Amino acid sequence: MTKDSLGLGIDTTFDDTSVAILRGHQEILANLTLSQYRDHAEFGGVVPERAARKHLEVIHSLIDEACRKADVKLEELDYIAVSNLPGLLGALLVGVMVAKTLSFSLKIPLIGLNHVEAHPYAGVLSGQPLQYPILHLVVAGGHTLLMHARDHFDYEIVGRSIDDAAGECVDKVAKLFGYPMPGGPVVDRCAVENPGSSYEFPSPRIHEPDFDFSFSGLKTALLRFKEQEPEKATQDESEVLACFFRSLARVLIYKTFRALDTYDLKRLSVSGGLAASKFLKEAFEVEAKKQGIELWYPPPKLCTDNAAMVTCLASYRYAAGLYDDLLMDAHPNLLS
Ligand code: KG4
Ligand code: ZN
Repeated sequence: MTKDSLGLGIDTTFDDTSVAILRGHQEILANLTLSQYRDHAEFGGVVPERAARKHLEVIHSLIDEACRKADVKLEELDYIAVSNLPGLLGALLVGVMVAKTLSFSLKIPLIGLNHVEAHPYAGVLSGQPLQYPILHLVVAGGHTLLMHARDHFDYEIVGRSIDDAAGECVDKVAKLFGYPMPGGPVVDRCAVENPGSSYEFPSPRIHEPDFDFSFSGLKTALLRFKEQEPEKATQDESEVLACFFRSLARVLIYKTFRALDTYDLKRLSVSGGLAASKFLKEAFEVEAKKQGIELWYPPPKLCTDNAAMVTCLASYRYAAGLYDDLLMDAHPNLLS
């Protein structure tokens, strides 16, 4: 029965409006995302109020378009899914209100989800059902998390960013060098095309015994370098950014594999927008092979925010009968 369930998922956590329709756990019938990057460019960062308004402007037509593309009528849906945490409160509320309205009027279950918990499910969509126990590394724009998962919905956060997330750090450093959001693709290209061996930047907290991350000091190191060595920063920019990204990747890889060892795990998934990096993917593949770890790694287009991964997580909740009611709230922060 669950295999053929038909779900519609909505994600409006930050600055992308995304709607997906999924059959079963992994057949994507529609997965549409409208990015707001240009709408916030003149402000140098995402303006929460503007993000919420932009979601509101496009959400209904995006749902219509998803239904057309999937050739599905709303009445055929089995459940409505929506990310209700974490994110910008106003932005989250747009998705939550639309989802509640659809659930109420169509008389079908409402399923609220943690957007960060959904990132690893991007791998399922590319035909790799998750196996447990597994360690999830999620490297998104707003969060860097290590999650020790024993089963679906049963996980413990064992490491997290205590200041800037890895993606946030990359975006801020790219901005220092004059690049607009998102900074990840340009920094990744530099890392792939350059040796990344000429400059030494810190790898913060790499030897701390816990699994928490801190990347704001690395960002400050790049700021200082730019102030102290303006010529090198300009003339050798690609190599500087390559060295920076290697420092950041070194921390992610070292701590992740140490966590696998500590928790005696043999499976790893890497997901989230920064995982779209070609450099990072290759580095994780090499290390996983060396250490005999089975790796789940979604294709780049499913690493960045999309509603299909949210609907995929929801399809497992639907199968387990884990629904929410109309009192469901939106939460800006992670709950655990
Ligand atoms: O998961 P995501 O789309 O949004 C959040 O949940 O926060 O992650 C956004 C992050 C940004 O830091 C962005 O620069 C990075 O993902 N990113 C990339 C690529 N595309 C987006 N990083 C490296 N390579 C890419 N191709
Ligand atoms: Zn995300």
